Amino acid sequence: MPKVFITRKIPDAGINLLKEKGYDVEVSDFDGVLPREQLFTKIKGADAVLPLLTDKVNDEFFEAAGPQLKIVANYAVGYDNIDLKAAKQRNIIITNTPDVLTESVAEHAVALMLAIARRIVEADKFMRAGKYISWAPMLFLGNDLAGKTLGLVGLGRIGATVAKRMKNGFEMKVLYYDVKRNEEIEKELGLEYADLETVLKESDFISVHVPLLPATKHLIGREQLGMMKKTAYLVNTARGPIVDEKALVEALKNGIIKGAALDVFEEEPKMAPGLADLANVIVVPHIASATEETRSAMSELAAKNIIAVFEGGEPLTPVKL
Ligand code: GLV
Ligand code: GLV
Repeated sequence: MPKVFITRKIPDAGINLLKEKGYDVEVSDFDGVLPREQLFTKIKGADAVLPLLTDKVNDEFFEAAGPQLKIVANYAVGYDNIDLKAAKQRNIIITNTPDVLTESVAEHAVALMLAIARRIVEADKFMRAGKYISWAPMLFLGNDLAGKTLGLVGLGRIGATVAKRMKNGFEMKVLYYDVKRNEEIEKELGLEYADLETVLKESDFISVHVPLLPATKHLIGREQLGMMKKTAYLVNTARGPIVDEKALVEALKNGIIKGAALDVFEEEPKMAPGLADLANVIVVPHIASATEETRSAMSELAAKNIIAVFEGGEPLTPVKL
């Protein structure tokens, strides 16, 4: 029976599927990211590994597992933690968890947009601190979303879902930039395609939805932040390194942009110096896909990928190597 190692406790749904098949399943009981040495001991001899985005899956990892390793089923849609070239060389199948988390991540981006524009977190702190003395005409003035322009950087599944919600629900004008123009979705939703510079210059909200690649690292840097409106907000639920976080701190301090809401950081779990001191920022710990429904569906999908491979079929959601 295939030996499966899961690098940290995930929702039961997928674990149960694997166990029902009679697979030899071990789930790490370490409360945290497994240190490399322990991880390497644990994956030795595994036929399948189900890692998290916090596990670096590289040649050293494959070497430690051994030549029988057939599939790595990443518990994430993003797979920048995986060295695809090394996987290809060793003929190891890589899968991710697209689609099942699209709605949750899109909703989280919307939640962050609303929270930063309406100063929800600041206002909550104020209330708890006992500072609410009387209703006041100028207390916690924020900005509306309706009628404003949303600029999407990346129009994949998640970006397109955010576009749909904000266009139809909030009646925003939606611009997008992507390396690939998608005229079908553009027409269907009534979006406008533009180059990155135009999107940055014309939008009141920028939301980032591209994967982390060498070409997207610091895609939003000092220069790009400088192109944004002084009144604009930046939301990032994609990957931290897409935004130059130090440049962002400077931009927020100096009024280059109005605010930012971040789910991801350049060097997680750390934040750039000064970021946490700013009132015009919301920071949350990489929880965009963190709903009971979605994390359970991700667990099932990862397990189904593993099962498909050992039953001689094609994985459901392979990453192209
Ligand atoms: C989360 O960041 C994911 O890639 O699924
Ligand atoms: C990721 O799932 C994307 O396509 O946006």
